[in-house]
Amino acid sequence: MEHFNTIIEPFRIKSVEAIKFTRREEREAALREAGYNVFRLRAEDVLIDLLTDSGTGAMSAAQWGALMQGDESYAGSRSYFRFRDVVSDLTGYRHVIPTHQGRAAERILFHSVLEAGQIVPNNNHFDTTRANVETEKAEARDLVIPEGRVPSQVHPFKGNIDLAALGRALETEGDRIPLVMVTVTNNAGGGQPVSLENLRGVRRLCDRFAKPFFLDACRFAENAYFIKKREEGQGHRTPREIAREMFSLADGCTMSAKKDGLANIGGFLALNDDAWADRCRNLLILTEGFPTYGGLAGYDLEAVARGLEEVLEESYLRYRIRSTEYLHERLVGAGVPVLQPAGGHAVYLDARALLSHIPPRQYPGISLAGALYLEAGIRGVEIGTVMFGLQPDGTERIPPMDLVRLAIPRRVYTQSHIDYVAEAVIAVAGMKDRLRGYRIAKAPSVLRHFTAIFEPV
Ligand code: F0G
Repeated sequence: MEHFNTIIEPFRIKSVEAIKFTRREEREAALREAGYNVFRLRAEDVLIDLLTDSGTGAMSAAQWGALMQGDESYAGSRSYFRFRDVVSDLTGYRHVIPTHQGRAAERILFHSVLEAGQIVPNNNHFDTTRANVETEKAEARDLVIPEGRVPSQVHPFKGNIDLAALGRALETEGDRIPLVMVTVTNNAGGGQPVSLENLRGVRRLCDRFAKPFFLDACRFAENAYFIKKREEGQGHRTPREIAREMFSLADGCTMSAKKDGLANIGGFLALNDDAWADRCRNLLILTEGFPTYGGLAGYDLEAVARGLEEVLEESYLRYRIRSTEYLHERLVGAGVPVLQPAGGHAVYLDARALLSHIPPRQYPGISLAGALYLEAGIRGVEIGTVMFGLQPDGTERIPPMDLVRLAIPRRVYTQSHIDYVAEAVIAVAGMKDRLRGYRIAKAPSVLRHFTAIFEPV
């Protein structure tokens, strides 16, 4: 069978969940009631939910089976040791601290090691990462390469951090930089991978300036597969070997197991530094739980341990990356402006380019996300001025891109679902002149995209 070209889902379906078809009037009412913010919709009213790839994946039969093996002991649970062994085997880090999800790992790390006025460089901070840095009154500084800021630009490793800019920051402001972070893949920059060469460059700079280097590792397996496919000399290696090298170049990581952990909940913080690990564990006990469960059930630890192994299977990654690329190809073929090239977990529509008649301050991403729901029952998410525009001082700054992300849950939708999505996006793009801008009627002062209420302009 290796000589056939069709890439198929590397699984068969054992359990199904019905999705609900709605009428247009129902969707109109639901959207109005949600204040034109798709986060506020009832999931039940969504036909195909591409809001996020986080925690929305389908677990395997082996993972469901592992749930029954969960050891729910408060301290020293067998499930913790299984989880710890899988994470240390993969990352090589000395301390493995489970957390209920990625942002808990971020909060515990940043609250333990950051001080007001400091700077955390990253390729692009994702929303919760940025918010957790800013909550400590520190600066989250995005240093992705210039190509990474232009949606139409093609680059094999568009998630790379700008090493020259990082070097300058370390040179001139190094006393205010307690650690360097790199997000793999770079979610806020379009799910774009970071090369091994770039990670090695960060390692060298961190060695030179004696700074710890952390990965935001949510989508480490997808990143490893891109390295295998795109980086010179990497094609013969397994995704696991590449992933191990990625982790070995850093000193620690934060991880949301809701992505490449193939689990519905979970995460961890893993690191080498003993003193930092002590501080983090103390805070963990205060707010998350004992260090052998960190806010998770024993069965969650089992599901994550198993998921971290399945995610590195080559047949899975080949299907995963190809199925995202397939949607991207269909949209590019129809002339819909999308961020280039396809990301690992998502396709990002360029709402600013498509809706050029709607200025960024009238949120083209909100308009496009609303139209996709209204016309087709599809839910995507704005990644643009609403998500990233609000500054800590309360002013609004226009970020480089206004995107709508269509994130693909892992192992959930089939090719015909994706064909439907492509048809619907192309139809909505065809009616772009009818779409209007929005203004914010009500919003909180941090992470406003989750709960803001909009009204049409
Ligand atoms: N870092 C990155 C790069 C992320 O994409 C996310 C979550 C987190 C950290 C936080 O992890 O949700 O487990 O607390 N991203 C999701 C998304 C929510 O939709 O992209 P979490």
